[in-house]
Amino acid sequence: MSDHPLKDDVSGTDTTGHEWDGIRELNTPLPKWWLYTFYACIAWAAVYWVVMPAWPYFWDGAWRHTTGAVGYTQRDSVSGELQAIAEGRAGTVQQIAATPIEEIVKNDSLMEVALASGKAAFGDNCAPCHGSGAQGSKGFPNLNDDDWLWGGTLADIQTTVTHGIRWDGDDDTRQNMMPRFLDDAMLKSAEIDDAAEYVLSLSGHSADGASGLRGAEVFAKNCVACHGADAKGNRSLGAPDLTDAIWLYGGDKKAIVETVSHGRGGVMPAWGGRLQPGTIKELALYVHSLGGGK
Ligand code: HEC
Ligand code: HEC
Repeated sequence: MSDHPLKDDVSGTDTTGHEWDGIRELNTPLPKWWLYTFYACIAWAAVYWVVMPAWPYFWDGAWRHTTGAVGYTQRDSVSGELQAIAEGRAGTVQQIAATPIEEIVKNDSLMEVALASGKAAFGDNCAPCHGSGAQGSKGFPNLNDDDWLWGGTLADIQTTVTHGIRWDGDDDTRQNMMPRFLDDAMLKSAEIDDAAEYVLSLSGHSADGASGLRGAEVFAKNCVACHGADAKGNRSLGAPDLTDAIWLYGGDKKAIVETVSHGRGGVMPAWGGRLQPGTIKELALYVHSLGGGK
């Protein structure tokens, strides 16, 4: 530390007066704008701690935090947003409830909401019987195919879902039932055997032509009223097409004999009293969209 020049010759900057081995320390303070911004941040933080929730602390066995003078919480703003979403959706839900089902189909934005809600409602209410993919199982029809017991138009499906099938609690439920031909002594066992053989022949599965021929007569006398002379079924009576090799209760001879002997009488609940009309429309649109809708 020999001489103490106040200014550095090269940079023209003040020095601190410190020097080591000929290297002088320059005095370069922070720019004023930076310093004031820094002070402003500190002041801002202090105000923020007072006004907004800020400090966590542990008290009385639980973590808490200072709530701040204005008592702001994000929970309030989230629930506000959720309410806004619910209100926005309520508009669409009301619109679906108020719009005839044939009109909803023509409205893309309503359809989008209706199909999504219908799918969710199907999972909640229908999947236990019809399967999560609506694929059905023995006694519970597949709703994906275009083979319908009671009809596959939007109106048909809406009626089925609203009033159910053979559902005691609904006066407008779809009635009609396959008779119990053996139990009620309408046919003898051998006649039922022949009729079953004839039914099998309709989808090319008969193993006994003579029996099938006798069965054709039994069929003409006892079965055509519901299943039709061509055995293609009747949707207003819920009588299945017997020629298409799609079976609700099984298409082997044993299953057919069982159906004809004892009847079946599958039951589908009525949803009219349990679900909102709008939800039933959404369900009908969803089922209709599964691929088999007419
Ligand atoms: C308790 C079981 C059960 C539940 C739950 C159920 N279904 Fe069904 N559903 C049935 C049965 C059984 C049939 C066939 C009845 C028959 O033999 O005609 C059926 C038939 C139908 C049909 C007529 C199919 C056709 O080919 O005409 C539609 C449509 C249908 N269900 C839709 C629904 C929807 C939508 C839901 C949910 C809201 C639902 N089902 C819930 C048992 C059920
Ligand atoms: C009163 C109307 C009616 C008459 C008559 C009738 N059926 Fe049916 N049949 C039905 C209905 C409805 C079903 C649907 C199942 C149910 O009712 O549970 C059905 C179902 C069937 C099935 C089951 C189809 C499947 O997909 O599993 C067979 C097989 C059948 N009928 C054969 C016959 C034969 C054979 C006769 C005459 C001996 C006959 N039916 C007479 C109404 C009738």
